[in-house]
Amino acid sequence: MLTFPLSNPYPAYASIREEHPVFHVQPEDMWIISRYEDVKAASKDFNRFTVEKRMELMSPPWLSKKCQHDLFVISQNPSSAKHGQYRALVNTSAFMARSLSKLRPFMEEIAESLIATFVDKQEVEFIEHFAYPYVNAVFARVTGLDDAIDSENVRKYTQAMELLYYEKPEDHIVEYIEDTYLRQQLFYTSIITDRRIKPQSDIVSELIKAEIDGEALSDAMIRSALDILFRGGYQNPVHVIGNGLLQLAKDPTLLSSVLRQPEKIPAFVDELLRLYSPAPISLRHTTQPVTLHGITIPAEAPVLLLLAAANRDPRRYTNPDSFEFNRKPKDYLTFGNGPNICIGMALTRIQTQVAFECLLSHISNISCLSADELEWVDSPFVHGVTKLPANLQYHN
Ligand code: HEM
Repeated sequence: MLTFPLSNPYPAYASIREEHPVFHVQPEDMWIISRYEDVKAASKDFNRFTVEKRMELMSPPWLSKKCQHDLFVISQNPSSAKHGQYRALVNTSAFMARSLSKLRPFMEEIAESLIATFVDKQEVEFIEHFAYPYVNAVFARVTGLDDAIDSENVRKYTQAMELLYYEKPEDHIVEYIEDTYLRQQLFYTSIITDRRIKPQSDIVSELIKAEIDGEALSDAMIRSALDILFRGGYQNPVHVIGNGLLQLAKDPTLLSSVLRQPEKIPAFVDELLRLYSPAPISLRHTTQPVTLHGITIPAEAPVLLLLAAANRDPRRYTNPDSFEFNRKPKDYLTFGNGPNICIGMALTRIQTQVAFECLLSHISNISCLSADELEWVDSPFVHGVTKLPANLQYHN
């Protein structure tokens, strides 16, 4: 069965990558590809590895039909005429590095205001009091939805979506997931209705104005476009920031290097993203039998691209498991690769840089529970903690 130790899946990833570069997972009948060159090639080889059937894996059979819809942006191969048009709907200039750089002062202001709420306390629940509200405020500003987002509902929803692993959870969890799902859909519907009457300068109003082949988008398409942004834009960056604090807590030498050279925080963030992919797996299906390393994956088989294992492939990186502050990795696969690379890459990098620049201008020491004492999101498709109590010391 597809399970990895949640707090430290990396030794298990390594043994798959080294011993079974094409691994057949039973009884799910899925395949895992995990070496860097194989994952990189497969992630942009849409002739042999399609994304068109990935909703089958993202909408598990136990989820009722009213809670399933197609995230059309991510289930189109870039070779299809539609992908470019769909991607352009969500890949607006707001997500480009140049626009995001202009938001740095806003990000700093949010980070500083959150730090001010705990700077006189030693203990802080870091996800609750920093990572989540920070990511929420930045996402709301980037999408222009500052006044519309109910951060608690979105938090429940985006956390619930992380549990969409195909194995059925207990009934009360299924009920909870479906309830938050329907609430979020109501939120999309009400904001679309509102912006149709009173357009504003935000992403919903943009989507209402957008056309594909001369036709306006239906409400269902607008909801789907919004949903891919919310699902990608919240928990992933929250986990990156949480994983970063944990790394600094467990590695005092790294912490003192970063404190001494804050100008290298961008390099710290890239190495963090290489080592700890918050979304370790990307989904594909074969379109034809594919033979790799002497093993044939049949046609139409689900294939998991194990990005997090590829990022630690010793064929690509020397000392792949160690956090090397000066490594400056540029080609890690955390955000995918090729024409459907993540549109939130610049946002995640910049907001994480600003978060650590601000945090480390106040914090001089960090201690946290060890990784295996913490509670991790219970899914092989996520690597991040649900809570992160931290003990902080500050500069005098
Ligand atoms: C650390 C943070 C993030 C990670 C690790 C991540 C991961 C990924 C990956 C691996 C893909 C490509 C999947 C594939 O191989 O097909 C992807 C696509 C995508 N991501 Fe992210 N993501 C992150 C943040 C975000 C954010 C902040 C947003 C938006 C606010 C976002 C929106 C999207 C969208 C719309 C796509 C689909 C692109 C396309 O198919 O053309 N992601 N993401």
